[in-house]
Amino acid sequence: MTEKVEIKIQDATFEAPVVVGSENERAIDIGNLRAKTGFVTIDPAFMNTASTKSAITFLDGEQGILRYRGYPIEQLAEHCEFVEVAYLLIFGELPNEKELLRWRTLLTRHSLIHEDMKHFFDGFPSTAHPMAVLSAMVCSLSTYYPEEVDLSNKEQLEITYARLISKIRTIAAFAYKKSIGQPFVYPRNDLKYCANFLNMMFSVPAEPYTVDPETEKVMNLLLILHADHEQNCSTSTVRLVGSSRANIFASMAGGILALWGPLHGGANQEVIEMLEAIQKDGGDVKKYVELAKDKKSNFRLMGFGHRVYKNFDPRAKIIKAAADKVLSKLGIEDPLLGIAKQLEEAALQDPYFVERKLYPNVDFYSGIIYRALGFPTNMFTVLFALGRLPGWVSHWKEMMEDPTTKIGRPRQIYTGAPARDFVPLAKRA
Ligand code: CMC
Repeated sequence: MTEKVEIKIQDATFEAPVVVGSENERAIDIGNLRAKTGFVTIDPAFMNTASTKSAITFLDGEQGILRYRGYPIEQLAEHCEFVEVAYLLIFGELPNEKELLRWRTLLTRHSLIHEDMKHFFDGFPSTAHPMAVLSAMVCSLSTYYPEEVDLSNKEQLEITYARLISKIRTIAAFAYKKSIGQPFVYPRNDLKYCANFLNMMFSVPAEPYTVDPETEKVMNLLLILHADHEQNCSTSTVRLVGSSRANIFASMAGGILALWGPLHGGANQEVIEMLEAIQKDGGDVKKYVELAKDKKSNFRLMGFGHRVYKNFDPRAKIIKAAADKVLSKLGIEDPLLGIAKQLEEAALQDPYFVERKLYPNVDFYSGIIYRALGFPTNMFTVLFALGRLPGWVSHWKEMMEDPTTKIGRPRQIYTGAPARDFVPLAKRA
């Protein structure tokens, strides 16, 4: 029997069913509340609202748990390649050898963008932020594939997902090449997903380039750690855009734009800019911890805090350990890593951060690794988008396959002027 809760509203009692998740999370289903009582609920920024049921990712912010399709992030990060994780998120299971080969082949086959699209890059100034270019280019893919995605056509859907995940990498690398005035480097079918991307980013026709296996490994790791995070701002945006039945490319472009913000994926760029500013200012981390506490300053410790994690962010733990390893393997000494560690230590000892349960998040150490691999700072959020795309695709697919899906349309509480009569221009004060 479905559990119910009773909500007393004035003299009436509203019986609401309780929805229980597979990890015993409990939610009160208030879908009928307005129809039965005239009341709506208000929850700005969705602090306490589950917008959907989802079987993709489980996150326990109190215990620092993150699992994709039931698999702990730590195990996936250690044993998988990014393309396997992308398959897992989208199709629900880890691929067997045959499925993986087919998926890899699809990703390899669909890596080129239409030659005409190359000219689009000429229209952007070389100073354009690559996130703006990325979203525009991903949206413009819809002009080349205007056909409706037929949800009953499994094969066509797989190709669409592969197109997106493969082409975003080519677009990202081309955007970078354009910004530095180097020729585009085409994808190579003999290279795996990450190696192919690194080759398009960093090779030039003038000399041979070999992808460093260590760099390829850490690239896989970072993309896996970013691949999904349930109903965050960009994923919710993808779902909301998609719920209007806008096409999948438009939905993904919406996700990229939401991710760009400094409170979301854009924080990885902001972290490095903040660490550089601290370094330039003499390296006094305590000064910046004080500044972050000062509500008048408008300054926040970027890469710190999370809406859901109130203990630690398991992704940050893995990335911090990887940063040390990667830098030493590549023989790089980055003073920013030292500053980041000092800043973390100072913040974690400060009652302001302890009381508010503010810990380093996924963006705090990732930029240090991206820098070590040679990526410019303004490409960091693009790398986040590359990693997050399979998550967005899996949420879009889950939503579209659910026959109960309706257009997303929240209510509001109107606080404006009451009804009044029109005043002709000549009579206005
Ligand atoms: N530095 C200083 N104070 C902070 C910070 C921070 N980074 N984060 C939160 N606080 C304070 C905030 O001022 C508030 O204090 P008070 O209770 O006195 O008003 C309290 O902690 C709660 O913060 P909030 O802003 O109400 O929390 P939220 O859940 O709405 O915001 C957040 C979460 C991630 C946007 C926020 O912690 C933040 O702005 N962090 C810095 C940006 C960042 O690193 N973003 C990446 C997030 S993880 C990856 C991703 O999602 O893309």
